[in-house]
Amino acid sequence: MDASDMGSDLAAVLLTEEQIHTRLDEMAAAIDRDYAGEPILLVGVLKGAVMVMADLSRRLHAPVEMDWMAVSSYGSGTKSSGVVRILKDLDMDTHGRNVLIVEDIIDSGLTLSWLLGNLRSRGAKTVEVATLLRKPGAAKVEVPVRYVGFDIPNDFVVGYGLDYDEGYRTLPFVATLAPSVYGDDG
Ligand code: XMP
Ligand code: MG
Repeated sequence: MDASDMGSDLAAVLLTEEQIHTRLDEMAAAIDRDYAGEPILLVGVLKGAVMVMADLSRRLHAPVEMDWMAVSSYGSGTKSSGVVRILKDLDMDTHGRNVLIVEDIIDSGLTLSWLLGNLRSRGAKTVEVATLLRKPGAAKVEVPVRYVGFDIPNDFVVGYGLDYDEGYRTLPFVATLAPSVYGDDG
């Protein structure tokens, strides 16, 4: 899927495929440097982090394993409340492991803040976070994020794993949506 399949759905491309891949190269190099050959357990948060996980993990030279969590955040509308329910838990034991949470986007930070606490309580050796995108709202709660791809404006974005109503996840770039897609005049 690319921009030509989207008709007029997209307002603007925020990050091109090339920009994303270049930044992932840099993030992977930083991670490899920091972990210095120690094994890492990558924990992806479904479903949005699927693309970041695939592309980041394949750039790492450190020995990695992958696991996944699915969580849902109770809240009104599009605002997350910080009250989180686990829909799918990890399959693996995190005891004594270097856990690196892989996220697509951090908005308020509430989901991640809960997830960090949850994983820290399970006896991991280290728990760190890598996210492709971070919105300014993330500054509202104190979440230590070690690896950030891009700080982006506070607009709703789709593509590269991120969806609007389950659509647009397979776009290779990150884009903002045209207002017509939200249903008010289209
Ligand atoms: P919090 O606010 O807890 O929530 O950091 C993060 C989650 O909110 C979703 N989210 C988005 N999803 N485009 C999306 O497709 C966006 O612009 C966006 N902003 C937040 C996402 O599920 C993320 O994990
Ligand atoms: Mg979503």
